Amino acid sequence: MKRIGVLTSGGDAPGMNAAVRAVTRAALGKGYEVVGIKRGYNGLLNGETVNLGARDVSNIIQRGGTVLYTARCLEFKEWDYVLKAKQKCDELNLVGIVVIGGDGSFRGAADLSKAGVPCIGLPGTIDNDISCTEYTIGYDTAMNTAMEMVDKIRDTAMSHDRCSVVEVMGRNAGWIALNVGTAVGAMAIITPEVKFSMDDIVNKIKKSKENKRQHFIVVVSEGVGNIEEISKEIHDKTGIDSRTTILGHVQRGGSPTLRDRVVASEMGYYAVNLLDKGIGNRVVAMQNSKIVDFDINEALAMKKPFDENLYRIADELSF
Ligand code: ADP
Ligand code: F6P
Repeated sequence: MKRIGVLTSGGDAPGMNAAVRAVTRAALGKGYEVVGIKRGYNGLLNGETVNLGARDVSNIIQRGGTVLYTARCLEFKEWDYVLKAKQKCDELNLVGIVVIGGDGSFRGAADLSKAGVPCIGLPGTIDNDISCTEYTIGYDTAMNTAMEMVDKIRDTAMSHDRCSVVEVMGRNAGWIALNVGTAVGAMAIITPEVKFSMDDIVNKIKKSKENKRQHFIVVVSEGVGNIEEISKEIHDKTGIDSRTTILGHVQRGGSPTLRDRVVASEMGYYAVNLLDKGIGNRVVAMQNSKIVDFDINEALAMKKPFDENLYRIADELSF
């Protein structure tokens, strides 16, 4: 019996379950058996697998997290472990694996493809930091969660005439900060991609205060700076009472939005079609709203320009 494997790797993202369901159902529909590999590449090395039938992926399309669990498997960066995984795949009779995760997970998928197991990467991360694709599974849910949280913070900031400095996730990428900041009408958005000056931000806040604005939201991407220091500087230089919030892992959980469920379904289906044609070492991506695929190594070498136009628009609209 031909078998296809599926695993989730790296940080979880809402919509990963919808992708697991899509891969499973598409493969079953084409006459394959499906093997769920638990805890990313770890499960492949340890033989922690489960057979997935149609009903095993029922009632998961709407659930956050990943029913396959996930992990960051550092050993998989070593070729010896890739070869060990290849041997496991042979024992499991896998014709290929769909790997749902980010760039690191795709590097593992490229290595495993090189070792002889065709792998297809599906972009699953809240950060939207995968260059070959304009969209990653989980991004929309995370942004909407963050937006709702900042809306709540704004209620209390407004009531107290305060400034709220809110840190959102994104690792080294400012996509969540940019979009959430725009959506909440932030006074300033601080991301790693755009050089910022605290003096400019302070002056903007002062000017806006003179123009009768009494509360302020500043959205900061994690890793750019210390939000306590940013908040203190705003307080010291403007006299406005300021508070900080780190949204953290709340952004990674929750039921996926319609967009994440739909994109996960499309991409999962597309990935199985590639494997069914005997094609491996590819990443499924979205370009101009269409689902496409790229060679994994070419995908990893791509660069995605930051949306500086949106950044400018958000900046010009907040005063
Ligand atoms: P995250 O950004 O949440 O860490 P990634 O998809 O980038 O998610 O996952 C990183 C994980 O990918 C690593 O912890 C490891 O388990 C796996 N991985 C497998 N092979 C490699 C590799 N060659 N380089 C980096 N990561 C790899
Ligand atoms: O990649 C997703 C992400 O949530 C990043 O935004 C964040 O930097 C990181 O993962 C946090 O990872 P951990 O699971 O180790 O807390």
